[in-house]
Amino acid sequence: MTVSEVKPGIYWIGVNDRTTDLFEGLWPITSEGVSYNAYLVKDEKSALIDLAKDFKTTALLDQIAEILDPAALDYIVINHMEPDHTGVIRALRLIAPDATLLCTKRAEEMLASYYGITEGVRVVSEGDTLDLGTHQLKFVMTPMVHWPETMMTYEVSEQVLFSCDAFGGYGALQGAIFDDQYTDLAYYEREALRYYANIVALFSRPVIRAIDKLKDVPVTVIAPSHGLVWRHNPQRIVDLYREWANYALEGPELGVTMLYGTMYGNTEEVAEAVASGVARAAVPVDIFDVRHIHASYILPSLYARSGVLVGAPTYEGELFPPMAHVLDLAARKRIRDRKVGYFGSFGWSGGARKEIADWAEKLHWDMIENWEFPGGPDRAKLTEAEELGYRFAMALKDKSSAR
Ligand code: FEO
Repeated sequence: MTVSEVKPGIYWIGVNDRTTDLFEGLWPITSEGVSYNAYLVKDEKSALIDLAKDFKTTALLDQIAEILDPAALDYIVINHMEPDHTGVIRALRLIAPDATLLCTKRAEEMLASYYGITEGVRVVSEGDTLDLGTHQLKFVMTPMVHWPETMMTYEVSEQVLFSCDAFGGYGALQGAIFDDQYTDLAYYEREALRYYANIVALFSRPVIRAIDKLKDVPVTVIAPSHGLVWRHNPQRIVDLYREWANYALEGPELGVTMLYGTMYGNTEEVAEAVASGVARAAVPVDIFDVRHIHASYILPSLYARSGVLVGAPTYEGELFPPMAHVLDLAARKRIRDRKVGYFGSFGWSGGARKEIADWAEKLHWDMIENWEFPGGPDRAKLTEAEELGYRFAMALKDKSSAR
């Protein structure tokens, strides 16, 4: 993509990644892609803000060269050390050995451990500034958004906030970088929520802390390191991030995530009946077949909704393994304080029912339905299933933990 001027003297020089299949080696982006947004401030002195993953080195250097000779760079600001934003640094060091790296104290240690870089590094602290001429950069410490060494950079004259992971999302850019250049913002907002649930949600308290810290700072552009650059309505993405962070701190919204897995279709048939019961209670439900849908796409719903219905058969005396995998990720992401109901088929002795109770305890989920049945469903079981779904949804409405 071509270089874009964000504000006078401030350029987006990022790159799209449509090659990586799994972001962080975990989260699918094969069809969505992702952007690594880097920025260049050109003034009496020049400063590059954030970089890209190492295999994008040539592409990023080409982008820089559209504005200035990369060898002439004065400063490189490292807001965050994760290699999707620093992988290029080793090559850039060879090309611009005199450029000073600016980063936090923790990032200084990581520059040494990741890349063996110990020279030409200047540590910055809260409120420190860097004069480039008519532009001035100010550094804002935002630890744990996303790693402990993370900071944001604020350009004072044009009021641009370079927020790195915060306010970012999946989705390669499609020919334009700004929010006002897209008619389908819903796509990027959906991918931003998936990114939040996959990557950021565990750090929701630091996210709120960072947003509160910046609430009186005038911002004309939110310039994150993934996804859209928000110049038309920068408050929109800040409000969304606050809302999503509050799911973790104040509780999720009323709604059901139904997870099901099935071996021969018996639990699936019952899941359809349970969903009918939820729908009868007029409670929204997202339905995921855990055999086929990657947990990356399930986590946003689990994160945002107050109830979880788990439909899975017993497999070798235990819970159907693909379901256990999703619940394990929910536990690792600390998606807690939900109401949960279980249903599932067994052949001879059962076992999933007991295991789901153990998962509920581990996850701090309140189990209010737990039903396993032998073999396949008949009309009576389907009626019972629909009633289970209805009871569960009504319980969510009656004494919901939802906001
Ligand atoms: Fe986009 Fe935490 O790196």
